[in-house]
Amino acid sequence: MIDLLIKNAVLVDGRRDISIIVNRGVIDDVITGFDAPAAQTIDAGGMLVSPPFVDAHFHMDATLSYGLPRVNESGTLLEGIALWGELKPHLTFDALVERALAYCDWAVAKGLLAIRTHVDICDERLLAVDALLEVKRRVKPYLDLQLVTFPQDGIGRWKDSTGKPTAINLLRLALDKGADVVGGIPHFERTMSEGATSVKLLCEEAAKRGLRVDMHCDETDDPMSRHIETLAFETQRLGMQGRVNGSHLTSMHSMDNYYVSKLIPLMRESGVSAVANPLINITIQGRHDTYPKRRGMTRVPELMAAGVDVAFGHDCVMDPWYSLGSGDMLEVAHMGLHVAQMTGQAAMRACFDAVTKIPAKILGLEDYGVEKGCNADFVILQARDPIEAIRTRATRLKVIRRGRVIAATAPNTATISLSGRPATVDFLHG
Ligand code: FE2
Repeated sequence: MIDLLIKNAVLVDGRRDISIIVNRGVIDDVITGFDAPAAQTIDAGGMLVSPPFVDAHFHMDATLSYGLPRVNESGTLLEGIALWGELKPHLTFDALVERALAYCDWAVAKGLLAIRTHVDICDERLLAVDALLEVKRRVKPYLDLQLVTFPQDGIGRWKDSTGKPTAINLLRLALDKGADVVGGIPHFERTMSEGATSVKLLCEEAAKRGLRVDMHCDETDDPMSRHIETLAFETQRLGMQGRVNGSHLTSMHSMDNYYVSKLIPLMRESGVSAVANPLINITIQGRHDTYPKRRGMTRVPELMAAGVDVAFGHDCVMDPWYSLGSGDMLEVAHMGLHVAQMTGQAAMRACFDAVTKIPAKILGLEDYGVEKGCNADFVILQARDPIEAIRTRATRLKVIRRGRVIAATAPNTATISLSGRPATVDFLHG
């Protein structure tokens, strides 16, 4: 007998009346209109069955620290940085683990089953690295967690308690301990040239170890911050095509169009992907402007049109920099769609892909998708297509991991008491 049969599903590509047959946690088949006895049958009721959401850019060491030791009163980046500095000496292993696990609970409830988190390695104790390695081990049955060694204060700029710039040693140690991806922050190094040196050093470290790279790159409004060019060049030089990602890339918003006309093809050639973080980019960038105020998000539709893989990341949830968020990647896609003015039909669908299959590709997830042979990981959404899912930030009716329901939410239905009108509304169209 079939372990799990999901029937009457709509898929992201528009196929309808689809049945998904699951055995031993794997999709055995995806066929139209099939029915048969199964140990468990779920009638999707014509709703969208999507592969799980994937967040390609997050900071799990800081998440849910809102209010510790105080809230960010001004809501500015500067107060956020000061706050993180106040909090860092008081972090404990147990508190880091507990907050991260609590966030993973939220993520699962929202159908977010894979997260790439940057972890601050500018700490002689490497406390956050140890804590998140423990979290990675504990959540493995239900969530794929990737750790990026992130030198928050700069690989050459940060000094240890003896005044020495030993961040590269800590980064290497974090990788030895089991972190997955090499991070960086070239625009935060002391000079442009030290930023470029850091890109080369870190890419070489990753190439030597056969690891992927994901750098906070050019997260600034300065149009002359051009570390993405060095990152793309090093990717090509080291033969790392398809394994390197530039996160944020907000300077591209402000760059000269002629320069970008040369840069984007270089990124495409190098197989470098991009992650924009719309909730954070729209709140943090353009803060030095009066009016007009720049939006600051990187050139998402132009990169996509050139064939560069672009994902949307959440970046922050209830931490020193951002007081909001809930692990809802549809909220992220919704904001990205608006900031990038991606209101065309294909563009809106691309925003859904930017929080599902594209970040899955960037993370290198295997067996991801609603296809025969893939892992039986799905989200049943209270929406009939990806555009409706983004519009309503659709309820995750059921979240399934390896063929087992691990989260469920009641449909979003309101009761109304109006003469001559229906008794309920569910915000679906037609
Ligand atoms: Fe970030």
